[in-house]
Amino acid sequence: MKYHDSFRRQSVKGKTLHVLDARAQGNAVRFVALDKQHAHIKDELTDAFARLLRTSAYTLGTEVEQFESEFADYCEAGHCVGVSSGTAALALVLRAAGIGPGDEVIVPAHTFIASALGAVHAGATPVLCDVDVATGLLDPEAARAAITPRTAAIVAVHLYGQMCDMDAIADVAEPRGLFVLEDAAQAHGALYKGRRAGSLGDAGAFSFYPSKNLGALGDGGAVCTDDEMLAARLRRLRNLGQRTKGEHVEFGFNERLDGLQAALLRVKLPHVDAWNDARRTSAERYRELLSTEVTLLEERPESPCVYHLMPARFENRDAVAAELRTRGIETGIHYAPAMDGHPALEGIATVSGEIPAAQAWAAEELSLPMHPDLTVDDVDYVADAVIEAVATTASAGEA
Ligand SMILES: Cc1ncc(COP(=O)(O)O)c(C=O)c1O
Repeated sequence: MKYHDSFRRQSVKGKTLHVLDARAQGNAVRFVALDKQHAHIKDELTDAFARLLRTSAYTLGTEVEQFESEFADYCEAGHCVGVSSGTAALALVLRAAGIGPGDEVIVPAHTFIASALGAVHAGATPVLCDVDVATGLLDPEAARAAITPRTAAIVAVHLYGQMCDMDAIADVAEPRGLFVLEDAAQAHGALYKGRRAGSLGDAGAFSFYPSKNLGALGDGGAVCTDDEMLAARLRRLRNLGQRTKGEHVEFGFNERLDGLQAALLRVKLPHVDAWNDARRTSAERYRELLSTEVTLLEERPESPCVYHLMPARFENRDAVAAELRTRGIETGIHYAPAMDGHPALEGIATVSGEIPAAQAWAAEELSLPMHPDLTVDDVDYVADAVIEAVATTASAGEA
């Protein structure tokens, strides 16, 4: 039995919805489905693995070099340096730019904790500032207000797959000579005014965590930049401070991208644009069905989103998530608490001014299923269930 066979019809607020009999099915719509994505390219992935077994290019070497060159081209950046994770990318690039103890780094108060950990690992102080209430992205005016004589960098996080207002951020950063780091961990292939994520700031940090729009089969990351000196320093820092083999010219780390992950990423890279298009198609369908009922992410015309996630906002987020779970729909929260609420950052990060928009996102955000293999039926089913969940949880709240 397909799960669609087990729909029952129910009238909610004058609309007929197709509601799943959850007992008939386990997880009807999964949050991500990497097994499906990998099934399409199984032979190519297997070939890449077999190639690695032949060449033994496990650590740096040809696969990493080729991937770096292909990803730099894709991002329209001069250089790409492969590293072990997105967190390593953020930390190493700030170090490579000479940012460290005594410096402040402005970070949005609504993001994944790694956006701030880069600064912490570099020895700098993250300064959290508020985000735009409609997009959840760094508010350039809040960033401007957070500047002190110690400010050295701004981390522009392209959260959910939508790029920040990079012109407005440049207006804040350039007159003061601040380093602009794009956290593009969720934005592979995203555009701002026609330019790719990772090519607009001084550098862009990417994560290849498996569920990302471009994901490895394990951990991985990269930094893109047009700055040749910065790229050269990053290559040393990721590889134990070595300039050439055995010549350790500075204090470094073992944060290299694995040859195997590079080989697998090379298989996936040519598919990213099509996968992003599929995500956008599902997002449009969600919007069509939900935008009058639910607060969705505002998408700006100059920065078409690649929908790493499909965030929605609900006043009673936890009740809606529980309702959806009973219908076999997986959801996620991205992110709660706001960054100032993490015990790990207590006494380390400071907060600039008030952060009401970040607090609201943390209280209300719920991510709906989103991945390139989502079908129209899946989206329709989730959207119907969301409408019903909003209605039933609201009436339960009133009772
Ligand atoms: C916005 C953001 N920044 C940084 C990272 C860190 O990447 P990684 O998990 O590869 O260290 C992530 C990954 O989840 C992320 O979503």
